Amino acid sequence: MKKAASRMVLLLTALWWLPVSAQPLQGAMNMSMIRHHHVMQHGIDPQYESRVNPLAGAPQDVAAGGKLYAAHCSACHGATGLGDGPAAAGLDPPPANIAMFLKMHRVPDGYLYWTLAEGGVPLQTAMPPFKETLTEEQIWRTILFLRGL
Ligand code: HEC
Repeated sequence: MKKAASRMVLLLTALWWLPVSAQPLQGAMNMSMIRHHHVMQHGIDPQYESRVNPLAGAPQDVAAGGKLYAAHCSACHGATGLGDGPAAAGLDPPPANIAMFLKMHRVPDGYLYWTLAEGGVPLQTAMPPFKETLTEEQIWRTILFLRGL
């Protein structure tokens, strides 16, 4: 039931996104269409799908997540998560606009954990995997920060 619900969220996300992708506005919207399609077809990797953030969102965890984001993510995704960091130029697909994606959709923790842990490896994109670089706790802290972007 929960699984079906999270698929539904992503399905709605993708349906919402499709007509937009046909418009020249894409640069401003750039959510990860390739990832959303992948999830619709294959689901979220089962080892991550049902994970839930064990951290409650204490200010020090969010602040630590912000430091991790600045060190590991902002070069591509930009300081405020719009996908406009200095290393974004020329990447195809481009780094996603995480700020907009997370504001507009109810995105499950498991989706974000999978995305950070495995990066673009399953999709062959430029997003690096972080499961060897960051601890589980660091990944959850980063996710807390992302949700506040
Ligand atoms: C080398 C550039 C690069 C770095 C560094 C990077 N990413 Fe990404 N990221 C991408 C690209 C390209 C995509 C779009 C393709 C994809 O989904 O794999 C993406 C997609 C995403 C998505 C999916 C958004 C959606 O619409 O579903 C999230 C979430 C994300 N990145 C978070 C992060 C976080 C958090 C970090 C740091 C821990 C990070 N990224 C580091 C390039 C990068």
